[in-house]
Amino acid sequence: MGEERVDMIVVREFDPRKDGVGVEEVERRCEVGPGGKLSLFTDLLGDPICRVRNSPAFLMLVAEIGEEIVGMIRGCIKTVTCGKKLSRTVKNNYSYNVINNNDLSKPVPVYTKVAYILGLRVSPSHRRMGIGLKLVHQMEDWFRQNGAEYSYIATENDNHASVKLFTDKCGYSKFRTPSILVNPVFAHRVPVSNRVTIIKLTPHDAELLYRRRFATTEFFPRDIDSVLKNKLNVGNFLAVPRGSLKSGSWAGPDSFLSDPPESWAVLSVWNCKDVFRLEVRGASRVKRTFAKTTRVVDKALPFLRLPSVPAVFRPFGLYFMYGLGGEGPRAAKMMKALCGHVHNLAKESGCGVVVTEVANREPLKLGIPHWKMLSCAEDLWCIKRLGEDYSDGSVGDWTKSPPGLSIFVDPREF
Ligand SMILES: CC(C)(COP(=O)(O)OP(=O)(O)OC[C@H]1O[C@@H](n2cnc3c(N)ncnc32)[C@H](O)[C@@H]1OP(=O)(O)O)[C@@H](O)C(=O)NCCC(=O)NCCS
Repeated sequence: MGEERVDMIVVREFDPRKDGVGVEEVERRCEVGPGGKLSLFTDLLGDPICRVRNSPAFLMLVAEIGEEIVGMIRGCIKTVTCGKKLSRTVKNNYSYNVINNNDLSKPVPVYTKVAYILGLRVSPSHRRMGIGLKLVHQMEDWFRQNGAEYSYIATENDNHASVKLFTDKCGYSKFRTPSILVNPVFAHRVPVSNRVTIIKLTPHDAELLYRRRFATTEFFPRDIDSVLKNKLNVGNFLAVPRGSLKSGSWAGPDSFLSDPPESWAVLSVWNCKDVFRLEVRGASRVKRTFAKTTRVVDKALPFLRLPSVPAVFRPFGLYFMYGLGGEGPRAAKMMKALCGHVHNLAKESGCGVVVTEVANREPLKLGIPHWKMLSCAEDLWCIKRLGEDYSDGSVGDWTKSPPGLSIFVDPREF
């Protein structure tokens, strides 16, 4: 392709009134998997912006040549934790803190404005013409105009085109490799240990608990309240050993955290089923028949608790678990009980799988049931610093910082 054709590519904001069909066509062409292999098809339910629209600021751009849409990109911006420090009040006002009983050793989060790129697609017939690069550059311009200090993307480790585009041409570096854990929803209910009590928390109580305990976890969104109050949030659940609550019942986050049980775990659930549907395509008839048989048997004989394959060969929805945290020697056991509870909620609402994403070294991973064959051990996150003047400087360059044990994966961007 000559230079003059690159000039013919126009990148502009997506217009839902006239671009829907063109965008869908590019999505469809990009989803075609290699011949004979399985591919995962995503149905955005007629709303191409659905995967960013719940973020505080978002934009979708399309690339067109003449009247034809040949590529697109989505991006969003929010404020998240990038590190921690001792607060200035703590450092400078020792006597104030002693009088007010403040915990002097407790660090506070350092926030930064971070942008996220997702859903970059270029039509197979128009690749290697610089369209992907042009879309990324234009999206980054919008990020800078809106004060974002960092930009990051998540991609599969083996997506060479994407990894090379971002690392070789756009200045991103490999940053984190969290694991995506996927568990099928069986036809039977999963038993939840009767030695565990599960409490449903209001968004307000969950917010306080998250802010007090997990605000210094990297990528924790400062607007956690709007995530928890979103209509896609199914619920927030806390697990404690049966009979361990000091007051006998839930008395609010203050009382809970002032004297917590020896072990506990918490998580929230996001309903992705109403945002997009997935479908596994390209499976052989043998595989599909096998899956269907396991399902029929599991449905007919649920007491056997057979690990049946859900109906993933037609569109299915998922529940996403986020905000996973806990403390104490039995926290992983508490987490397992919570996952069982979420499985049963997902079954009731007709989901095919339950998914979560956690840091590679997350200690609670032990308690999260998942099928290895459906999961992704290393989801590659690449990051770039867009500017240096935004946060208070106490963290320095976040892109150079070592990973923590945990990471907060925002359900709005999954
Ligand atoms: C990844 C993708 C968006 C790239 O789009 P594109 O318009 O072809 O990319 P560009 O022409 O701008 O390429 C820019 C650079 O990226 C790298 N690159 C792009 N495609 C590549 C490939 N197939 N193999 C190796 N490097 C590649 C090269 O460094 C290239 O520069 P060069 O052509 O000078 O060597 C496109 O392949 C695509 O839509 N893939 C399917 C969807 C996807 O994987 N999206 C990314 C998920 S975040």
